[in-house]
Amino acid sequence: MPDIFQPDTSFADGKILKTITDGVGVIIFNNPDKRNAMSLEMWEGFGQALTSLRDDDAVRVVILRGAGGKAFVAGADISQFETQRHNAAASEDYAKRSAAQRALLAYYPKPTIACIQGFCLGGGMQVAMLADIRIAAASSQFGIPAAKLGIAYGYDGLRHLVSLVGPSWARLLMYTGMRIDAAEALRIGLVERVTPDDQLWGETMLIAETISQNAPLAIKAAKITIAEVLKDESQRDMEAIKAIGTACMDSEDFREGRQAFMEKRKPQFRGR
Ligand code: COA
Repeated sequence: MPDIFQPDTSFADGKILKTITDGVGVIIFNNPDKRNAMSLEMWEGFGQALTSLRDDDAVRVVILRGAGGKAFVAGADISQFETQRHNAAASEDYAKRSAAQRALLAYYPKPTIACIQGFCLGGGMQVAMLADIRIAAASSQFGIPAAKLGIAYGYDGLRHLVSLVGPSWARLLMYTGMRIDAAEALRIGLVERVTPDDQLWGETMLIAETISQNAPLAIKAAKITIAEVLKDESQRDMEAIKAIGTACMDSEDFREGRQAFMEKRKPQFRGR
């Protein structure tokens, strides 16, 4: 995976980087000396990078990745725990501040892909599980060592874990704090695809570019509808599904898609 990027913007003193190429936004967790462990400043920088890519009309899909080749994110920065997360009250403030940034990802309007190389642990798993799709290198490792640290992992993280791997695997991972390899992560549904290490970036970019060339409103319709499918029926917003369906079927892009097919050419979608 290329480690040298020309970031167009950096946040959190360079520990979060952002770059855009051909409609694909990339956010890089860049604290390799600590295996990209996330400080509060990094969570906040991550939120700023997400917001800026969200508001950029040229960006159609966002990839999240780590720098340094050894980790996606090795969890929250444990060295901050003594001062910022040492008891329930301090933890609540910490959780609120970091959860606000993760909420941006949870409700992100554009497709997101976690590109995972190396360790993906604790809070790193939370980020990866919030992304729409997870592509992992064969040598990557996954785990939630909360029980080894005495931390309660929280509702949002466990909700996503259970929805991806089911309650039994969630219990095995949480009770033991064990690490699993990419092959096992693939088998239990934690990641969607595993590639040889040297092909991870190419494969991830290929998927991102494919998404970025497809019709944005059709992708948005799928994203909104799948999110509603996952909600309890009593909470489900069928109106939102109907509204995006109507916007999509009345769009210029749908006309362009039909015409391009009939004319045997590649469609040019504009997201309207
Ligand atoms: N918070 C703070 N520092 C971390 C960290 C974290 N979550 N993860 C790694 N680091 C630091 C290490 O303390 C070490 O710092 P040092 O060089 O000053 O000693 C450096 O990153 C490299 O880590 P090291 O353990 O030497 O590398 P490794 O490749 O042998 O192991 C890990 C990597 C990720 C398996 C191991 O560091 C680890 O278990 N980290 C903690 C993971 C964790 O519990 N995350 C959940 C937090 S909620």
